[in-house]
Amino acid sequence: MRSVRMTEELWQHLLSLREGSPSPFPADADASFLALYRPIAIRDRPLVLAQVGQSLDGRVATPTGDAQDVSGCDGIAHLHRCRALVDAVIVGVGTVVADNPSLSVRAVSGKSPVRVVVDCNGRMPERAKMLHDGGMPVLVLQADDVPSGSIRHEVIRLPRHTDGGLAPRAILEALAERGLTTVLVEGGANTISRFVDAHLIDRLHVSVAPIIIGSGPAGIRLSPIDRLSEARRPDVEVYNIGTDIVFDCNFRSEIRQEAASPAADRQDILMADLA
Ligand SMILES: NC(=O)c1ccc[n+]([C@@H]2O[C@H](COP(=O)([O-])OP(=O)(O)OC[C@H]3O[C@@H](n4cnc5c(N)ncnc54)[C@H](OP(=O)(O)O)[C@@H]3O)[C@@H](O)[C@H]2O)c1
Repeated sequence: MRSVRMTEELWQHLLSLREGSPSPFPADADASFLALYRPIAIRDRPLVLAQVGQSLDGRVATPTGDAQDVSGCDGIAHLHRCRALVDAVIVGVGTVVADNPSLSVRAVSGKSPVRVVVDCNGRMPERAKMLHDGGMPVLVLQADDVPSGSIRHEVIRLPRHTDGGLAPRAILEALAERGLTTVLVEGGANTISRFVDAHLIDRLHVSVAPIIIGSGPAGIRLSPIDRLSEARRPDVEVYNIGTDIVFDCNFRSEIRQEAASPAADRQDILMADLA
């Protein structure tokens, strides 16, 4: 496990990378901090990052939906760093209804991202805080068969997919058309899981806090599989960020492995690993 040591100079360097005008590389830069955040900050290609803040037993909230203090203070700072490094942050309307978040950057310095709410069936609350706080723009994504409502923010209409929802790829394309190519899918489980199921997540950060909730929803729920050989196996680096531990899961390498090795070969590799 790598320990992350953050300095303000290094953080400012990462913010400058994000803006495309890199400041001088700090002399005593912590390699772990760079390894965790540089892939988000650099703008060499589109990036879809997902972030889950969960307990030791894999819960993101209590059964009543209380999710306020799952992450410790360093886990929250980590989430805000991720927000500060992306163009847009995506949440499902379930999170807006449950938490009424502002999705801004407050725990660290940096610019807040554009806020995107996936609201397929038009149930975004008119009184949602983000619609009235004067912060970054809010884009609400709805199916094109939903009657126009009274929300005064930009509504992007997308065709309803055969599964009844909005296709994650169509969501990313609509954002890319608006110049938003580096995105953070922040939750909840329903929203993240649709992107993971569609194989559109490049990196997943699972931030684990040392608490046990014992019941309540998990951060990711995928289509059921019968065999562990069908489980997703990204490359993982583990970082001690202080109050929380971050598992940085790289799905890009998984995609490369799948292309290079047919399923049968992969099973042989797994058996060899176990031996
Ligand atoms: N700890 C964390 O990291 C974290 C982060 C965020 C949220 N949370 C917690 O997660 C809970 C909410 O999660 P959730 O899974 O219930 O809800 P969610 O993912 O926030 O929202 C799900 C809803 O969003 C809409 N939606 C999202 N993606 C869609 C798509 N591709 N196509 C169509 N509709 C889409 C659907 O709305 P319709 O049903 O209207 O069609 C869906 O029911 C809350 O308790 C919140 O506190 C935890």
